[in-house]
Amino acid sequence: MKNRVLVTYTSRHGGTAEIAEKVAGKIAEIIHPYGLYADVLPVDRVHSLDAYQAVVLGNAVYAGQWPKEAVTFLETYQSVLNTLPFWIFSSGPTGEGNPVDLIQGWRYPTAQHSLIDQIGPRDLAVFHGDLSIDKLNIGERLIIKVVKAPTGDFRDWDAITRWAATIAETLLSELSGTKDQQLEETQT
Ligand SMILES: Cc1cc2nc3c(=O)[nH]c(=O)nc-3n(C[C@H](O)[C@H](O)[C@H](O)COP(=O)(O)O)c2cc1C
Repeated sequence: MKNRVLVTYTSRHGGTAEIAEKVAGKIAEIIHPYGLYADVLPVDRVHSLDAYQAVVLGNAVYAGQWPKEAVTFLETYQSVLNTLPFWIFSSGPTGEGNPVDLIQGWRYPTAQHSLIDQIGPRDLAVFHGDLSIDKLNIGERLIIKVVKAPTGDFRDWDAITRWAATIAETLLSELSGTKDQQLEETQT
């Protein structure tokens, strides 16, 4: 029985992993009373989507790209993701203000345009990221200094939680619609 929601992610320094945990936690809180469960896993630990009735993919953004294992995940499961409710979020921009404005309207890497178009996710959210300097290696620190990106943890937990709640509520309402329809069909 497909009674699980998968929140899967790519993350180099753990910031996006923590967002994925928060998203999965909020979804679980809302769906659990209805006998549904949420799992959170890095993409390289996902070996099948058979148990899942919905999927959320969260990616860190590096130089305008998602980590390559995110692209591998999308390519591997493209035909299944086409048939499931599927949401994507990215975590990257730092500084105050709307994250999509901070990243100049970017929603996903240009190279994945046709793949994303074919899969058709329900939403492509962009959340602020965590650019805490102590997490970065020397090369990354140099890049951040050159591009003068604001450093610090800018993750907006309220926005993240609201987004996760919307996903859970959408799933529940679609599920109850399906149940009502099945009930009507058995009564006619
Ligand atoms: C070398 C480097 C390049 C980055 N490039 C971008 C970028 O192009 N766009 C962006 O919004 N954020 C960029 N970021 C910020 C990261 O996306 C942000 O720190 C994110 O929260 C990292 O997630 P993680 O902790 O899961 O790896 C970059 C960070 C580093 C260190």
